[in-house]
Amino acid sequence: MLKRPKIAIVGAGGNVGAAVAHWAAVKELGDLVLIDLKGSVAQGRGLDLTQCSPFEGFNNTSFVAGEDPALMKDADVVVMTAGVPRKPGQSREELININAGIVRDICANVKKYAPESILVVVSNPLDAMVFVAKQVTGFPRERVIGSAGILDSARYRTNIALATGASVEDVSAIVLGAHTDKDMVPVTSTATVGGVPLTKILAADKLSEVVEKTKKGGAELTALIGTSAWLAPGAGTSLMVESIVRNQGRLLPCSIELNGEFGVKGCFVGVPVKLGMKGAEKVYEFELSAQEKEAFANSVKANQELMEIAKTFL
Ligand code: 2OP
Repeated sequence: MLKRPKIAIVGAGGNVGAAVAHWAAVKELGDLVLIDLKGSVAQGRGLDLTQCSPFEGFNNTSFVAGEDPALMKDADVVVMTAGVPRKPGQSREELININAGIVRDICANVKKYAPESILVVVSNPLDAMVFVAKQVTGFPRERVIGSAGILDSARYRTNIALATGASVEDVSAIVLGAHTDKDMVPVTSTATVGGVPLTKILAADKLSEVVEKTKKGGAELTALIGTSAWLAPGAGTSLMVESIVRNQGRLLPCSIELNGEFGVKGCFVGVPVKLGMKGAEKVYEFELSAQEKEAFANSVKANQELMEIAKTFL
């Protein structure tokens, strides 16, 4: 029997979870299950979203929502957005003491109820939470994927478009490494605008400004809004889910456990990944500049330190 993909969003009462649900519904990616500790909030989010369908014409007038983790039973994809968001002035890393336990407990339920699922982690500090998810579920690395590089790259592309005055559609650029203000790696050596190297378009000082603005993109939004962003994080995550459930094979930067790629083993960090129906089907390696190599190595070190802290919650 044909069936639509079942996509469970955990933490759907929160802003990021609700934004993932929004984009997933508009794109008609599958049957959505909205789960939150506050079951009635998840139900309200689902109802509110469903009432957009007459305007937007998406064909989704039923949804499942509540607090029971069993609702995720046999989900094809589980999106983990549970946990607290950062406040102005706070780093993502500071959330580890609260979020590691939350992510750990939910992942035990993912293992129990959706053992064949592909798990997309969005909770922060991102790379360490992907590590927790992988440890608790025991899923192969292909099925435990962190959503961050796609968001950081969207911010990078936007900043490049603003700095050059070119259309963002023609900007091709990625951010690798840790999802932290300090250590993420906006890659300049391969960035292009309409096929022209970015380094030929922007002077070195302007390029540094773009890189710095990108690294602090999440903090800038948190300071402006009073809590962390959700629209672009939700849109980026739903793009990852789309590539998985529609087997598109998009090449997107995602956090995954490295197994020798980029000279790193056993650390979770953002790298270019092909996303398809099996999850993270392939990691693509390429040569970074000397400066980028050093920044990437710092990212790995920072994430290893966070993983050590996360281990104390396992
Ligand atoms: C951000 O950078 C929520 O970590 C996410 O906005």
